[in-house]
Amino acid sequence: MSAQPETTSDAEPAATDPNRVRIFDTTLRDGEQSPGASMNLAEKLEVARALAGLGVDVIEAGFPIASPGDFEAVRAVAGEITGSIVCGLARCNDKDIARAWEAVKFAQRPRIHVFLATSAIHREHKLRMTPAQIVERAVAGVKLARSLCADVEFSPEDAARTEIDFLCEVVEAAIEAGATTVNIPDTVGYATPSQYGKVIRTLSERVPNIGRAVISTHCHDDLGMAVANTLAGVEAGARQVECTLNGIGERAGNAALEEIVMALKTRQDYYGVTTGIRTERLYPASRMVSTITGLVVQRNKAIVGRNAFAHESGIHQDGMLKERSTYEIMRPEDVGVPKTDLVLGKHSGRHALRDRVNEMGYRLTDEQLEILFNDFKALADKKKEVYDEDLAVLVEKHLEDV
Ligand code: KIV
Ligand code: ZN
Repeated sequence: MSAQPETTSDAEPAATDPNRVRIFDTTLRDGEQSPGASMNLAEKLEVARALAGLGVDVIEAGFPIASPGDFEAVRAVAGEITGSIVCGLARCNDKDIARAWEAVKFAQRPRIHVFLATSAIHREHKLRMTPAQIVERAVAGVKLARSLCADVEFSPEDAARTEIDFLCEVVEAAIEAGATTVNIPDTVGYATPSQYGKVIRTLSERVPNIGRAVISTHCHDDLGMAVANTLAGVEAGARQVECTLNGIGERAGNAALEEIVMALKTRQDYYGVTTGIRTERLYPASRMVSTITGLVVQRNKAIVGRNAFAHESGIHQDGMLKERSTYEIMRPEDVGVPKTDLVLGKHSGRHALRDRVNEMGYRLTDEQLEILFNDFKALADKKKEVYDEDLAVLVEKHLEDV
């Protein structure tokens, strides 16, 4: 397995460990681009705190030029979050880059992320630019960003569909101009794992100064291969992965953070790399994003779905009782699925109910709690004991109703 050498950036302490994969979370930017998932400033701050608590290396807090609200949210995240790098997205033009810098400049560890499409489809139909003009614009954008900020990421948008020789040329030019991370987006989720891995490997072999930057993955899930492609990228030497909680994002979404992290952890024997994620915070963070965005997590979703650790068949239950490892490759407590002896019943009050749902990672307004409380009482009258699974059904029923 190839490893990435150190970056020249003075803003990246994680770079000293060649087997450490940096987690770049874009729930607040690409994730927020999910239809119907927009968040207000207070909600974004709450998610940002959860991300910092999880231990993500980079929080992409938004696209500051997109709207005054996005700008304020990025600025607020930058002003509060410590530990994680706080990043703002910009197209490769002076106005976007200046606005991104205005938004992140007070962060303890700021990053500017500039992007420019490189594939023939985008060059010809969207940008109407020649390959030479693309290289020139990318270099100018990275140089400007680098004159403002020590930590600059460059993304050739639609990289996975870009001619490989041209991709190598743009990536080399961006590194020469000062990019400290080069991100390789599969913008439309078109790549297959072996293809995507080959792109990353080719860049590490053919780009002369690739050792001066961290290679990053950014995979969309249009064909359901975002996580597989990301992991293929890691195998090929990428040391940053871009992802979102619950895999939310444009169209079919982005690679799911919790799946990548648990795949790398559970199969550390195979991948040989680590992340800095506190995995026992995954489940509460997933619930929080689900309640804030209203995007319900499917029941059978890996890692954070309600059925992810449920064993229904008699044979499986019997095996589990004899030895958990027969049917369990991860322990629910390792991802923060609450396990409690505290069972609520018809005598439990609002306070106990609120504590319980908060512990489960849900975040309800007083009004929502009141509705839940009435449903809970009705259920508790019929059922002696109300378990977390029952509460999850009640909460998610309301989320679906919204
Ligand atoms: O999917 C994509 O290409 C992006 C870039 C802006 C990184 O989100
Ligand atoms: Zn994207």
